[in-house]
Amino acid sequence: MQKNVEVLPDGKALTDRSLALILEKIPGAIQQRGQFTIALSGGNTPKPLYEAIAAQELPWEQIHVFWGDERYVPPQHPDSNQKMAREAWLDRVNIPAANIHPMPTAPADPATAAKIHETELREFFNVSGEEFPVLDVILLGIGDDGHTASLFPHTDALQVGASKTSAGEVPLVVVGNKDGQPRLTFTAPLINHARCVIFIVAGANKQPALAQIFAANGDPLTYPARLIQPEGELWWLLDRSAGENLISH
Ligand code: 6PG
Repeated sequence: MQKNVEVLPDGKALTDRSLALILEKIPGAIQQRGQFTIALSGGNTPKPLYEAIAAQELPWEQIHVFWGDERYVPPQHPDSNQKMAREAWLDRVNIPAANIHPMPTAPADPATAAKIHETELREFFNVSGEEFPVLDVILLGIGDDGHTASLFPHTDALQVGASKTSAGEVPLVVVGNKDGQPRLTFTAPLINHARCVIFIVAGANKQPALAQIFAANGDPLTYPARLIQPEGELWWLLDRSAGENLISH
């Protein structure tokens, strides 16, 4: 794992750096594999980035968009990560509808939806058994509590890795739990198989969690972002208010 940490002076610089890092991954992916695959994070932080991506002239036919997690609400719900990304980006560009792969939130049972999306991922990336889909980029944020995606502290979603299904598969998508509210989330093993994982973090309120995540020792069940140790590139892009007191280990 190649870990990179950059502290940017302000929110605009954070957006510009995040955009540049993503854009530089696109040509190689398309040249080598005919497509570029990215999973989006939700929340508030990435919205300016999504607006900046929407202003780019890109080969949208070869770009496929997924989500690393989703609140278990309809796509029109104000809390929907899909809604935020469509309004900030996807509705503003000529990306084919088939290139947008939202996590399903219609099934009554979130566990069923997780299995449906897991099958969609395996089929799209043409993998089976113990193989993992390998996304080009996975964007992540962190919460004040050190969660990432919808991998919340001390929840069952963190236990994936050792457990395998009867088909010998490690789960790719599971049900997350935020204070009793169901979510769908990529599992840590799936995230760790990405070619490039980019955390984008802004705000002084994230400092305590960052300190725990970057500490030499710490409990990943308490600070789940510690579970993210990808085989590929790991980038932490922080604005000054989040990263100014961070001692990178
Ligand atoms: C979500 C996100 C989540 C987010 C963090 C940070 O669904 O909310 O995927 O993991 O990245 O909670 O959220 P903010 O950017 O709003 O601080």
